[in-house]
Amino acid sequence: MSAHEMSPEGLIVNYLMRNTDRPVSLTELSKALKLPPQLIFMKLKELMRRGFILKGDERVGYQLICEDDPRLAGIYLQDISTKYHFDICFLEKVTSTQDIAKELMREQEIHSILVIAEEQSRGRGRLDRRWISSPGGIWMTFALRIQLQGAKIPIFGMAGAVSVAKAIENITSLNAKVKWPNDVLVNGKKVCGILIEASLSDAEALICMGIGLNVNNDIPKDLVPSATSLKAILKKPVPRLWLLRAILLQLCPRIPIVIEDPSNILDEWRKLSSTLRKRVKVVLHERTIIGKAVDIANDGSLILLTSEGLKKIAVGDIVHLRDT
Ligand code: BTN
Repeated sequence: MSAHEMSPEGLIVNYLMRNTDRPVSLTELSKALKLPPQLIFMKLKELMRRGFILKGDERVGYQLICEDDPRLAGIYLQDISTKYHFDICFLEKVTSTQDIAKELMREQEIHSILVIAEEQSRGRGRLDRRWISSPGGIWMTFALRIQLQGAKIPIFGMAGAVSVAKAIENITSLNAKVKWPNDVLVNGKKVCGILIEASLSDAEALICMGIGLNVNNDIPKDLVPSATSLKAILKKPVPRLWLLRAILLQLCPRIPIVIEDPSNILDEWRKLSSTLRKRVKVVLHERTIIGKAVDIANDGSLILLTSEGLKKIAVGDIVHLRDT
């Protein structure tokens, strides 16, 4: 997209990114971009709502904070964590943020916690797979105790995927899609995976939503055909704190929706889906099923139209196939 085709938000971010060493006044932005100051003011507020971190005000001007250091998450997520009541814990290197979150939730009487790490030595993915987590990515677990019926648990994963896809779009303007059950793809390659682990007792569930987002980390060679990072796509690093903020701004308000009216999340997932209407192959332990993905059911299962009729897939891994 050339500069004159860019949206006002894009022009503002570009200008501020070239001048991160000082606050830029509304008058300067208005003159440089040939846009009315009121519009710029409105768009600056909109950018902050989307997750961009801006310091300053109308009087001193605005300065974009390009933070890539997850150690500062506590500071930059403080307002969100106060509003939605979750603790924040950053650790340099862990085995898996899932394990740390579970331990902390068990030890302390807290309602919810966000555990973020720069590196994981034993990151895990769905279906017991390894999740490579070298520095530069977003590796985090959002854990919460909640009263809910078991059937809604997979919807947390879908809410996570929708939130990450929207956050990516808000910060990078890339078009992110979701792949069943809860991967996030950009340009057809996986950038984010979500792992939901839950332990249920009579009255409540402990949900651990692990989010692994490839941002500025290197992707192992053998995964390059199917996975990528935002940095590789954009050819420049993305400040991780913007993304972290954008993800939580999307995710926190969706949590009560998952509990009260999950059909809303399913609708959002359908709109962002790269799976629906595609021919897919499902690899199960004992067999492989091929069919057209026609919908998702209320519990998040994938509904396939196969040569033997409709089939519901609750758990598994799918491969998108080319139409024949
Ligand atoms: C998948 O697609 O298989 C899910 C990957 C989930 C990876 C994240 S990274 C943070 C959290 N800690 C882990 O050990 N796994 C999840």
